[in-house]
Amino acid sequence: MLIDTYGRVATDLRVSLTDRCNLRCTYCMPEEGLAWLAKPDLLTDDEIVRLVSVAVTSLGVTEVRFTGGEPLLRPGLVSIVERCAALAPRPRLSLTTNGIGLARTAGALKAAGLDRVNVSLDTLRPDVFATLTRRRRHQDVLDGLAAARAAGLTPVKVNAVLMPGHNDDEAPDLLAWALENDYELRFIEQMPLDAQHGWTRDGMITADEILASLRTRFALTPEGDAARGSAPAERWLVDGGPGRVGVIGSVTRPFCGACDRTRLTADGQVRTCLFAREESDLRGALRAGAPDEEIADLWRTAMWGKKAGSGLDDPAFLQPSRPMSAIGG
Ligand code: GTP
Ligand code: 5AD
Ligand code: SF4
Repeated sequence: MLIDTYGRVATDLRVSLTDRCNLRCTYCMPEEGLAWLAKPDLLTDDEIVRLVSVAVTSLGVTEVRFTGGEPLLRPGLVSIVERCAALAPRPRLSLTTNGIGLARTAGALKAAGLDRVNVSLDTLRPDVFATLTRRRRHQDVLDGLAAARAAGLTPVKVNAVLMPGHNDDEAPDLLAWALENDYELRFIEQMPLDAQHGWTRDGMITADEILASLRTRFALTPEGDAARGSAPAERWLVDGGPGRVGVIGSVTRPFCGACDRTRLTADGQVRTCLFAREESDLRGALRAGAPDEEIADLWRTAMWGKKAGSGLDDPAFLQPSRPMSAIGG
């Protein structure tokens, strides 16, 4: 079991498969990209499957989510999914992706055992997409979403970040579109995890503002805490349901008290939190030939040191040195 000193138990593992990405979202990374991890520093497919196996068989992890950067850029993704689906007990498997290339791989991912996907899409307007992501790939994302739904990678969730002056007028349109297409839309408050350190509290759209904007067109009723569990998204029924919308208020409505997450970076470091300042090296132990039980112990020790919260409200808050794209969202 991965328990911390606050009694929280981590059953949800998020594995970053690469720090690279084929988009350049302005709230994430600069136009020129970042200094990517070198190939020898990345966990190999075998190392990833081994660590997931330790998490599932020795540490009580029941949910595994693959993230990036952009996880579809990892050549071995389908095989990694297949091998993780063969573990006993079988973990639930999901993927967080920008959707580019998903149209091509959704069927193979489903066949390999992937259960569901979350796809990032911030706008319905191709020109705004090009400004926000610095790439003209809007249609690829729409095609990826449709393919995921058709392949049964459901519920298909859509993550949207609103940026002032770009897409902050689009919340109701995005929701109408998501309801029509049977996607579960969630709005995410922008977090200070960008590589450029450009985030400001005044420059972000808050959960309250998102809800006010949605209420200009829809009636929202809270779904309630029981349905939420440890999920980051607070959910509302739209116009009485069954359609729903979520808001992930990491900054103004933190949910750290119910956190059930542990994270693995693409270079094999355990992170206890998106905002953690420390990491624990599992790759070194793996490559030194450590047996499963030793890896499990290192992981348990790392999680025991998990802090109470993100520290975002602390006046001395310091952004973690790794950006979101290298942590895995
Ligand atoms: P499901 O609701 O189970 O589908 O997953 P999810 O919402 O955790 O997954 P996803 O990868 O789509 O993440 C959505 C947003 O939630 C991203 O912006 C994440 O960075 C954010 N998020 C995920 N985990 C955490 C966390 O532990 N803390 C905070 N503050 N935000 C998180
Ligand atoms: N703040 C909030 N969400 C972010 N994402 C990427 N960077 C940030 C940030 N700084 C979102 C992506 C994706 C999810 C994994 O996190 O858009 O949907
Ligand atoms: Fe890529 Fe995701 Fe960062 Fe956008 S937010 S640049 S899709 S890693």
